[in-house]
This record gives sequence, C-alpha cells and structure tokens, in this order.
Amino acid sequence: MLRTKIAGIGKYLPDTIVKNDDLQSVMETSDEWIQERTGIQERRYGTKHQETTTTMAAHAARTAIERAGITPEDIDFILFATLSPDYYFPGCGVLLQRELGITKTTIGAMDIRNQCTGFVYGLATGDQFIRSGMYKNVLVVGAEMHSMGLDYSTRGRNVTVIFGDGAGAVVLQPTGEADQGILCSKLHSDGTHAEKLAFINPGAHGGYHNRYLDEPVEYGYGKETYGGIFLTEKMVEEGMTYPYMDGPFVFKLAVQKFPEVIQEVLQEAGEDVASLDMLVPHQANLRISQFVQRILKLRDDQVWNNIQKYGNTTAASVPIALCEAVENGAIKRGDLVCLAAFGSGFTWGANLLRW
Ligand code: COA
Repeated sequence: MLRTKIAGIGKYLPDTIVKNDDLQSVMETSDEWIQERTGIQERRYGTKHQETTTTMAAHAARTAIERAGITPEDIDFILFATLSPDYYFPGCGVLLQRELGITKTTIGAMDIRNQCTGFVYGLATGDQFIRSGMYKNVLVVGAEMHSMGLDYSTRGRNVTVIFGDGAGAVVLQPTGEADQGILCSKLHSDGTHAEKLAFINPGAHGGYHNRYLDEPVEYGYGKETYGGIFLTEKMVEEGMTYPYMDGPFVFKLAVQKFPEVIQEVLQEAGEDVASLDMLVPHQANLRISQFVQRILKLRDDQVWNNIQKYGNTTAASVPIALCEAVENGAIKRGDLVCLAAFGSGFTWGANLLRW
C-alpha cells in the first residue's frame, strides 16, 4: 500500500531573542503575567529589511530538502502555509520557488490560509497528492514573520506577547514501507466565530463583516468613495490594522477541540492514547497544551512543548516542534506521532503518522 512519508525535515529560527522583559520596556506587561498565562519566556524576531517569511522558509526548506537526499529542482509541488506573507499577492509559494532557485515551470505552488492549522492542512493535502501518484516530492512549509505586523502598544499586548517568528518545512515522498508514513488526517472548520481571532484590515470587506461583530465599527469610508476602501486613513490613524483575539473565547474552544480531534485520528487508525509515542501540538499556549495533556492522561514524555523558547509561531509551530523533537532523539523510526492544531477560523485538525 502506498503511503506518504516525511523524507526530510528542517526548521529555522531567527537569531534575535526577545525576552518578556524586552516587551515590558515598550508596553504595560510583565514577565510574571506572560509566563503565568502562556508559559512563554522568550520568542525570536526576524531581522527587519533582511529577513521575510519567505527567506526564513527557504532556510528551513533547504535543510528539509538536503535531509531528503534531493535537490530543490526535484521538488514537484510547494504548499506554503502562512498568515504573514511577504506580499498580499502573489503568495509565498512562488516567492519560495524563486528563493530556492527552482527554475522549472512544471511544478505548482499553492498558499494555504489556515493560520495555526495551516501546516496540518498542508500535510493532509500533500499526502493526497503523493498517494494519488500525482507528485513524488512535495514541499510543505509553515513560516511566519509576525513581528512585522503586531501592535506594540499596550492595547495590543494580549496578542503581541504570544507570537514569534520562525519557519519549518518537510519533504513528502511515497513509501512502500508498511510501518511508516501518514496513517490518517482529520480536518475541521466552523466559521461561526470567524472574527473572534482575526486580522481584518486591510481587506475587501468594505465594512460588510460588521454585522458579525458584537460592536459595529466605523472604518472611515466616505459615502461617495469608489476606490481606496481596502485601506482607509482611519484604519491607519486609529491602529485598526492589527490582529484581534478574544483570548478567553479561544482558550475555551481550543481545550475542547484539541482532545476531540486527537482522539478522532487515533480511533480512525485503530490506536489509542496509550500507544502514542509523541503528541506534537500546535504551540498556542503552554496552558492549553497542559490542559490537553491532562484530559488525555498523557505522560510528560508523550508531549512536545517548546513555546517557552519560541512563542506561538502559528503555521510554523508544528513543523518546528516536530523537527526539534526528531533532532533531540525524542521521535525515532516507527514511533506513533500525532500532530494537532487549532486556530483562527476556527479551524482544527490532526495528522497521525508512523515516523
Ligand atoms: N500583560 C499584562 N496584562 C495583560 C496582558 C499582557 N500581555 N494581556 C492582557 N492583559 C490583561 C487584560 O487587559 C485584562 O485586564 P483587565 O482585567 O484589567 O481587563 C487581564 O489581563 C485579563 O485579560 P484576559 O484576556 O481575560 O486574560 P486571560 O487570562 O484570558 O489570558 C490569554 C489571556 C491571551 C493569555 C489567554 O486568553 C489565552 O491564552 N487564550 C488563548 C490564546 C491562544 O492560544 N491564541 C492562539 C490560538 S492559535
């Protein structure tokens, strides 16, 4: 039976370490508050004017490609998950193709806009391309340069302290080995509360989404305006161009959906939590991961956490954590590994695989 294996994996974390105390110097927050609520001690920021989401992705991708024993020219398809793309369009997939020096035009490149679940969705999509026989080497990347789009005033503190920059990548290939590869994936979405965790402006909504907000918002559109409503002066002047998060709402849903989808993939594969060698959860918040661990009755050595060092790197968090666990010898050939994520949308999902 043809399955999809992760043939190579890589990660990239930029050099600049931003500690909680560094954020305290620009906004009203404290190391104590951040650690107590999120477990985060520090995060990495990319170098402005030198690094972008795409350049960080390229670092991670080169490592994954080398470890898969191939060259960039062997890549057939790129799946790029990010919420902080270099440009509004075109997407980062084609920018990564260029950055990697892939000149052949027989490949395809696609961007995934699923925020924190982007990589899990990407892996499930790449798996289908491989198993259908359409492609032999699929590059799946999650990368974020959040630091470029955060509100560093006290108003944005509940969001800003959580997020960090980084990238992770895998190369997917077919395998005939019975004890290796992706066993199954489950993907979910519920758009009911889309604006509870969202980056709305600039956008083509023209105020239309106001009817879904608890409080209507005035964006400064002139009645006789025909153009220029994608980004208004009012949005810029009043700092409306930042992510919004209803933290407690997100927390409550996350601790419900994570365990559900993890159980779902285990059940589908005829496995149970006791046989799980490693859960690699999206690094949303250490308290969320600890909650999930308690609900599923997992031991400490069955869950990989690194949010303390890197913060929440959204689409990059699962591949970075998986890569780190593999590099540390915590995941070995044949291990049963579950990747799980929950995020904006809301969307959530999981992949179960034998390493
Ligand atoms: N530093 C200090 N105080 C802060 C703060 C910060 N960085 N951020 C928020 N606060 C304040 C709030 O202003 C509020 O003050 P008030 O009581 O005077 O109004 C107080 O802390 C409590 O705010 P609240 O949002 O209710 O805190 P919380 O206990 O829910 O913790 C989160 C906030 C964001 C840490 C928490 O809700 C969370 O982790 N949610 C999930 C977030 C997540 O995982 N997002 C990613 C999903 S992929």
